[in-house]
Amino acid sequence: MNLLGPQKLGLVTAGGDAPGMNAAIRSVVRTAVFSDLEVVGIERGYSGLLKKEYRSLNSRDVSGIIHIGGTILKTKRSKKIKTPDGIKKAVENLKEANFDGLIVIGGDGSFHGAKILQENSGIPIIGIPATIDNDIPGTDETIGFDTAVNTALGEIDKIRDTATSHERLFVVEVMGRHSGFIALHVGVGAGAEMIRVPEVDFTLDMVSKRLERARKIGKTSSIIVMAEGAGDCHAFVKQLNELALYDTRLSILGYAQRGGTPSARSRLLAGLFGVSAVEHFLDGKKKNFVGLKNGNIVVPNLDVITKGPKQLDPQLLRAAEIISR
Ligand code: F6P
Repeated sequence: MNLLGPQKLGLVTAGGDAPGMNAAIRSVVRTAVFSDLEVVGIERGYSGLLKKEYRSLNSRDVSGIIHIGGTILKTKRSKKIKTPDGIKKAVENLKEANFDGLIVIGGDGSFHGAKILQENSGIPIIGIPATIDNDIPGTDETIGFDTAVNTALGEIDKIRDTATSHERLFVVEVMGRHSGFIALHVGVGAGAEMIRVPEVDFTLDMVSKRLERARKIGKTSSIIVMAEGAGDCHAFVKQLNELALYDTRLSILGYAQRGGTPSARSRLLAGLFGVSAVEHFLDGKKKNFVGLKNGNIVVPNLDVITKGPKQLDPQLLRAAEIISR
């Protein structure tokens, strides 16, 4: 800590990028400048910390980026940071750069790295949850999730047109790594006939019965939204075609869900979280992240991310089951 009090804040975007990260960078920088703090951006995630890839950021550097997806600081997944040597090197570099604190914008993996870095360096670290997966325990929502759901929704609405025209069944795979938040939310929004998520057991027999019923009530086409963590979508489509109830096709939405202009919601979260992260750093928080709980900003300890996976909303799961029939 500088004698004059906190002076220099490191800022990094790590892990998978998410729409709204630039809005969060902008909010952190603007709040830091407002609080007379210097901001040093670290490029390419934790890999950039290991290689000392730094760039100064001021208010003008973050003009005109609020509506742009991705991250101007770039990001990279760093395996090295998870090794003892990597952690040691990162701690050395944090101290050598004389950072009084570090703001980490990222997802679950980035928060695990932030926790280890903080415990080994003693330097205050505040996380800003930004991942399309929305799988960070301790916050109801992450930056980028709303944008990804809306991106997927637009694509599924288009797929429904051709499914209807050709009287086909479509399996649409969405991202989410090991969680089903994107699949559940977009499945409900798109009116999917079925939603497969890793968190809920599924059997082919159950699907077969649902499709037989759909046939009986005259449904000539259907959409099944499947989270990438729920299984092998290719094998699932093969099984469905072997059931011979519907001519079945597969559409994998992939990386389009990671880009695009952030939605108003994602930008709003980014703005709020950026201000809150800097102000909680100034208040002396050391090993925390900012988040949203029932509409209010919260500042959980980073230890929260080690307490088990975030659960899907049981009410939304039940609603999905009822209205998809
Ligand atoms: O964590 C965000 C995410 O998009 C996941 O939904 C997905 O499984 C993963 O990143 C893909 O990782 P990568 O960008 O390294 O291929």
